[in-house]
Amino acid sequence: MLLTGPEGLKALTTAYENGRALPGFVAYNLETVQGIVAAAEANPDHPVLIQAGAGPFKHAGREPLMRLALDAATASSAALGVHLDHSRDLDEITACLRAGYTSVMVDGSHLSFAENIALTREAVRRARDHGAWVEAELGALAGDEDVSTNATATATAMTDPAQAAEFVAETAVDALAVAVGNVHGFTATPVRLDLDRLSAIHTTVPVPLVLHGASGLPEDQLLGSLARGVAKINVNAELRRAYLQAVSAQLPTALPGSDVVSLWSAGRDAVTKAASRIITQLTQTKLP
Ligand code: 13P
Repeated sequence: MLLTGPEGLKALTTAYENGRALPGFVAYNLETVQGIVAAAEANPDHPVLIQAGAGPFKHAGREPLMRLALDAATASSAALGVHLDHSRDLDEITACLRAGYTSVMVDGSHLSFAENIALTREAVRRARDHGAWVEAELGALAGDEDVSTNATATATAMTDPAQAAEFVAETAVDALAVAVGNVHGFTATPVRLDLDRLSAIHTTVPVPLVLHGASGLPEDQLLGSLARGVAKINVNAELRRAYLQAVSAQLPTALPGSDVVSLWSAGRDAVTKAASRIITQLTQTKLP
């Protein structure tokens, strides 16, 4: 079942109030969409976000990936939102809103504070016309969204709590992605979040927080973030790695018969397993 925007926002708010988080899983193609949907169906009481775009549009094309994610969510028995991740482009945001996305992330983190506010405000205005909710970002993450680079967090780009409060008041955004030592992709050494900074942001900001770069995050750091207002976590590299490991293990068997279906199925099932593990961790781990 595809959530409406208001239903998606309700799921986010409920997670926030309970000190839990919705998982946002990045999808690139048919098998990753199917893998995420199967994980959601295996955990029926927990809404899940399929993050279809903006990076993956470069691979799959906007229209096909949009339709694929929306159709798969609509046909499923699970509660699924379809979310646009990391978009800098208002036309792209409008296209996804028109198609029926539950939520969008407008990413002005590369802009000045004033420009980020202006871009986010416009995205919020457009989203309201479609009943969708909006995530924005303040501060910037190290690392690459589509390829793991073993990056390390940079202190200079971290989210400032006072600025975050001003940003949310100025934009009326529904959720704020923060930079508190989190990194896109895997890292050479385990990530330690700046949990004091996260607490300060949580105190000053009245909306749910979003943690990007959750792949490989140690469990104590993940749970520490849930206790400090994080109500959505984004996962990509962990699913990519599961997919690639399964496909490479299957390749010797698939190659003699040119059996692409067994290869793609192995990748899809690995995505389901990895996403299921994260849903279980988010929803069933005892909170500190
Ligand atoms: P990871 O690749 O580290 O899981 O980050 C995903 C993400 O934040 C997508 O927006």
